Amino acid sequence: MLKVLIIGATSGIGRELARLYAGSGHLVGATGRRQELLYSLQLEYPNNVVTECFDATASGLTGHLQSLTRKLGGLDILIYSAGWGEPQEALDWAVDKATVDINVNAFLEAIHFGWRFFGQQRHGHLVTISSIASIRGNRLSPAYSAAKSFQSIYFEGLYIKARKLNIPLYLTDVQPGFVDTKMAKGPVFWSAPADKAARQIHRAIERKRWRVYITHRWWIIAKLFKHIPAWLYHRIG
Ligand SMILES: NC(=O)c1ccc[n+]([C@@H]2O[C@H](COP(=O)([O-])OP(=O)(O)OC[C@H]3O[C@@H](n4cnc5c(N)ncnc54)[C@H](OP(=O)(O)O)[C@@H]3O)[C@@H](O)[C@H]2O)c1
Repeated sequence: MLKVLIIGATSGIGRELARLYAGSGHLVGATGRRQELLYSLQLEYPNNVVTECFDATASGLTGHLQSLTRKLGGLDILIYSAGWGEPQEALDWAVDKATVDINVNAFLEAIHFGWRFFGQQRHGHLVTISSIASIRGNRLSPAYSAAKSFQSIYFEGLYIKARKLNIPLYLTDVQPGFVDTKMAKGPVFWSAPADKAARQIHRAIERKRWRVYITHRWWIIAKLFKHIPAWLYHRIG
């Protein structure tokens, strides 16, 4: 039985991942700020879900993760699925700050916790849900694309570090395109239901993939995004 901690499991991708792991007999530690949604997840899987309700951007994140790990009785996989962003024409300080708080600062604290914990126990798997948005700057949500780029680049660095230091630790950077959740805003295409996205992410974790595009056909957009010349991207972006 795997012990899986999911930060951001009240809705969307994180919740579907929680249902997938709990439904297949694993033990899930679920977090988020919405207590009623954590409660309903626990009601659905009373023997396979433990919860802790907190704001990941407030102080005390590491303490909450330690407490949840104790409730789980150990930890094998840590998934960072919490995230937020708001496309905007204006450059609003409050929006940018909130975006960086959850997608960079809280992410960093959670991943440090996981890296230390897994390093000491000599096994474990760190997963982040970054985004296709990490590949290029975006005028409507510059902080979000930059923050997701931070997650992705950071994970690649840790992936190399783990191998060089011979630490038996796996890392997976998940880059979704559009998934049908409240995060998907504006004109969307190739959007996948959250349960389908979760199944593909689950498989990628099982296979210990270091990066995966969700759904898989988004690798085409990723390639295009990477190679489109700046002069053209800046005109159409
Ligand atoms: N949907 C897409 O099209 C898409 C595309 C690319 C990447 N992503 C990424 O996928 C991840 C999951 O998003 P989603 O699509 O599943 O959207 P979602 O349904 O809005 O899920 C976001 C999760 O993050 C949690 N969260 C947000 N702020 C938090 C905070 N301050 N403290 C604690 N938890 C917080 C939310 O819980 P509470 O509100 O209960 O706190 C919720 O469980 C995000 O990182 C997002 O950036 C999504």
